[in-house]
Amino acid sequence: MIVLKTGRELNIMKEACRISAGALQTAGNAVEPGVTTEEIDRLAEKYILSQGGQPNFKNYQGYPATACISINNEVIHGIPSAKRKLRAGDIVSIDLGAKFDGYHGDNAATFACGDVSPEAKRLMDVTRESLYEGIRAARAGGRVGDIGYAVQSYVEARGYSVVRQFVGHGVGTHLHEAPEVPNFGTPGRGIRLMPGMTIAIEPMVNAGKPDVEVLSDGWTVLTKDRSLSAHFEHTVVITAEGPKIMTVI
Ligand code: MF3
Ligand code: CO
Repeated sequence: MIVLKTGRELNIMKEACRISAGALQTAGNAVEPGVTTEEIDRLAEKYILSQGGQPNFKNYQGYPATACISINNEVIHGIPSAKRKLRAGDIVSIDLGAKFDGYHGDNAATFACGDVSPEAKRLMDVTRESLYEGIRAARAGGRVGDIGYAVQSYVEARGYSVVRQFVGHGVGTHLHEAPEVPNFGTPGRGIRLMPGMTIAIEPMVNAGKPDVEVLSDGWTVLTKDRSLSAHFEHTVVITAEGPKIMTVI
């Protein structure tokens, strides 16, 4: 079921999204050589709690941390660890969210650790821009396939591929709600977009092939061909005046 949010609900959700965005910025600012992914996770959690929010990934289907931190050929769902130290040249995808007063925010970004290769930088730039292409396509009266098409065509025209096995989603009183929001699709196909819909758009882009596999820890998703991968995500509300990004500070 797709839930359209009222103005009152959107105001609460805006706060959840503001906390999510602040936590992501806090985590991203901590990315530097020598820092462990667990240290970054702690900072994010401390920030969310300090703002009156709750880390919404923690215990979600048994997930053990506040953030997912995925490095280089890891696509998503990397588990923070005291044994995992960042190194110069790594690209570090951080995905996290906060719950506030019953509503969820969800956002992600990929950060450079020190100087990264021109190829890594280009992958991050294309992935970030593909998210904005997807957001621009999220217009009331359009369809969910318009979003996927916008992301996919932008990415593939630049020689990269979009992950198919994981998709964006509705977000609200649940972290994951209907509809699914794939990063691929056909214009004019899929669910109709309506004012009051809140969705997380989250392209996962691989430098190589789109295929992914899950590591033996049961969570970490990595590229099958071990190529680099990047991930950007915003929570967005569809309004009569156009899409509005909610995960901003
Ligand atoms: N952040 C993911 C998403 O964007 C969900 C994380 S699942 C968790 O949809 F279990 F890791 F929390
Ligand atoms: Co999400």
